[in-house]
Amino acid sequence: MPEGRFVSFEGIEGCGKTTQIELLSDYLKSRSMPHTITREPGGTAVGEGIRRILLHSETIHLTAASELLLFYASRSQNIAEKIRPALERGEMVVCDRFYHASMAYQGYGRGIPLDFIEKVTDLVCDQYRPELTILLDIEPAVGLARARARNHQRVEDEGRFEAENVEFYTKIRNGYLAIARRDSRIKIIAADRSRQEVHRDILLAMEI
Ligand code: TYD
Repeated sequence: MPEGRFVSFEGIEGCGKTTQIELLSDYLKSRSMPHTITREPGGTAVGEGIRRILLHSETIHLTAASELLLFYASRSQNIAEKIRPALERGEMVVCDRFYHASMAYQGYGRGIPLDFIEKVTDLVCDQYRPELTILLDIEPAVGLARARARNHQRVEDEGRFEAENVEFYTKIRNGYLAIARRDSRIKIIAADRSRQEVHRDILLAMEI
């Protein structure tokens, strides 16, 4: 088994994952704790290419199966090129989304059976699974408003998922909460509070 700790962050759009990962990274740097940050979809050259296909608002007619398999193609590259080597170097790996996102979005959101997603996860992830997942929980209407405001300022068009409605995000949020109820490695943290309060709770959950 790899040496380092593997932690992932999850939540619907606008839950503040990216900000919290930055705060965590600053904290780890201040403590001289070696770590690697990566994200999905993305994290590698192939993964970033797949990310453009998956998130661009002009990508239309993507079947639910194509969507699922593209996320897992990106994940497979991320494990081989970034996650496994970093864990073997003994570093902490912090991943902005991992397979729980596929269960929530492609499973609960798009209706792909969870047992099928679990089989693909076994094939692609093998033993590379987060020992801890931080689930930042927020009301869909609040998160979506935050995410849409931010997407206007982006250079890259990443609007395909943000075009979905509150009903879709309610399914995703409830899906994440259902997954968390079955898995004690997932810690739910209320995200509709100040950055510092959320950051403090993340450090407590990580016991660092
Ligand atoms: P992300 O880059 O985390 O976007 P944001 O910072 O806006 O939350 O994720 C991009 C989108 O991809 C997001 O809508 C969730 C979706 N997604 C899936 O549907 N399945 C997956 O397996 C992953 C990793 C992401």
